[in-house]
Parts: sequence; C-alpha cells; structure tokens
Amino acid sequence: MRVSKPCPDFPIPNSGATLYQNFDGINIKGKIFHGDALAFLRNVADNSACIVFLDPPFNLGKDYGNGKRHDLKPHDQYISWILDLIRESERVLMHGGALYVYHLPSIATQLTHCLNTLLQFRHWIAISMKNTFVRGNRLYPAHYALLYYSKGSPTHFYRPKLSPLKCKQCNTYIKDDGGYRHIIDEKGINLSDIWDDISPVRHNNTKSRGANELPMKLVDRIVSISGAPRELFVDPFAGGGNGVLAAIKAGMNFLACDIEENCCRLVSEKIAKAVT
Ligand SMILES: C[S@@+](CC[C@H](N)C(=O)[O-])C[C@H]1O[C@@H](n2cnc3c(N)ncnc32)[C@H](O)[C@@H]1O
Repeated sequence: MRVSKPCPDFPIPNSGATLYQNFDGINIKGKIFHGDALAFLRNVADNSACIVFLDPPFNLGKDYGNGKRHDLKPHDQYISWILDLIRESERVLMHGGALYVYHLPSIATQLTHCLNTLLQFRHWIAISMKNTFVRGNRLYPAHYALLYYSKGSPTHFYRPKLSPLKCKQCNTYIKDDGGYRHIIDEKGINLSDIWDDISPVRHNNTKSRGANELPMKLVDRIVSISGAPRELFVDPFAGGGNGVLAAIKAGMNFLACDIEENCCRLVSEKIAKAVT
C-alpha cells in the first residue's frame, strides 16, 4: 500500500483509512479497511483491480451507523467528491477492468462526462425500483442507474443467460418467443441492460442492517459479468458486504472499505462465516 495523501480540495472527515481486518490466507486474499473511501482508494495500487464497484451514499441525509455522520454535503462538493472517486477508480483499474457506479439517474447524468473522458462506455443499466412515488411535476421514477464502463476493451466479459418469465397460470412465456422457443428453452435469453428481476430496495427481514444493502443477485451478476477468479474486486463503500461476498464466491481477491466501524465489523463477520 502507498502512503495516503490528503485530498487538497475536499475536507476528508476521517483523513485516512486503516486496516480493520486482514483475510489473507491460503484460499482467500482480502482486506477490510475502516475510513474514508477516497483515502482508501488513493492507497490502492495502479492498474490492479479487475472490478471497482462504487455504491456511495446518495447524499440524501441517511444515517448509516452511529448517527454522527450526515450524508448531506453541499451538492457541488458531493459531485466533486464522486468525480475524485471516479478518477481514482480509473487509476486503480487494470487495463480491461470494469467500473460500476450505482446511483440515482439525476446524479448519474452528472458523472458521465468525466466517465466518458476517462473510460469506455459499456452500458447504462436500468435497475427497476418499486415502491417509489411521483414527486412534483415529474414522471414516476422507476429505475436506478448502474453505469458500467471499462478501461479499454474489457478483459473479462461474460453475458449471463436468464430464464424467461412465464405466466403463473398457464406456464407460457409472457413475452413473444419470436419462433425461438426451442432455443430459449435450452439456452435461456440474453441479459439486457434493463434489470427488472431485481428489487434493490430490501425489506427489513431480508437485510442484515438497518440501512439499505444491495441484494446478492445484483452483485453476483456484476461479478459474473466482469469478474474472474484470483482477480481483484475493490469496494470502497462495502456497507453490508454483499459485494465482497459475491467476489469471494467467484474466487476473487478483494479490498473493501467503509467509514462506519459497525459496517466493517458486519462485513468481517460475514466473510469469516463464508470462508469457514
Ligand atoms: C449505499 S451504502 C453501500 C451499500 C453496500 N453496497 C451494500 O450492499 O450493503 C453506502 C455505504 O458507504 C458508507 N460510507 C458513507 N460515507 C463514506 C465514506 N466517506 N467513505 C467510505 N464509506 C462511506 C456508509 O457507511 C454505507 O455503508
């Protein structure tokens, strides 16, 4: 790890990231850091990561832990912080590596200029969300944005196949099969850039913490598209740790960070369970 340099134009609340738990062993190589995501990323080696996954706080004033940190920065500061994270992510990605950024479409649009300058656009994946409501004079917001970019041509790209949806009553395909039923039956259908089979907002009884955590299906899918065994998965906002768990399941090494100690503890406990 290189020595952390302070960020000159944005006050980092916790001006460094310290090693919380080291999981380097025979079957698994990984470390959890406690601290600020940007300070953490600045310590990750150049050209080392196969996947960087950014799922930052959305600047909506959420409390992710002990109530002391407020996820509410002035808008411009927030955007420039995310852009710094993107620049660092580009640096740490290996050639052919993938950056995924999960955010609200209104913020995602403000990141695309920087992303398009640094990296190669792959997809704007729309992840359908339910249980929202119309605000003001807008259309009903029905998706989150998962931006997928690569550093040059992707080294690893696997296109998942899905089982097509069937009617519960008559067991026939809901969408027209276009005469390819025999192929669909055998091979499934290609995953598109609209993911409407995943609900990103979780019920409390399926989460391991109060704040939101992404479903395993979503992070498993990211890892299956762009990951590979023994490559490095980097998750600067580990939260409930499902990203790291998906990486471990796929045989990847990992570096992860969270500013909340309770998240670091939760992730470490989950990893310990997963690897024993
Ligand atoms: C949207 S959640 C990530 C959820 C995670 N992907 C999951 O599936 O559980 C954002 C996480 O970032 C953490 N966080 C907030 N500010 C941070 C910062 N400056 N540096 C690192 N982590 C931060 C929060 O504690 C929270 O766990």
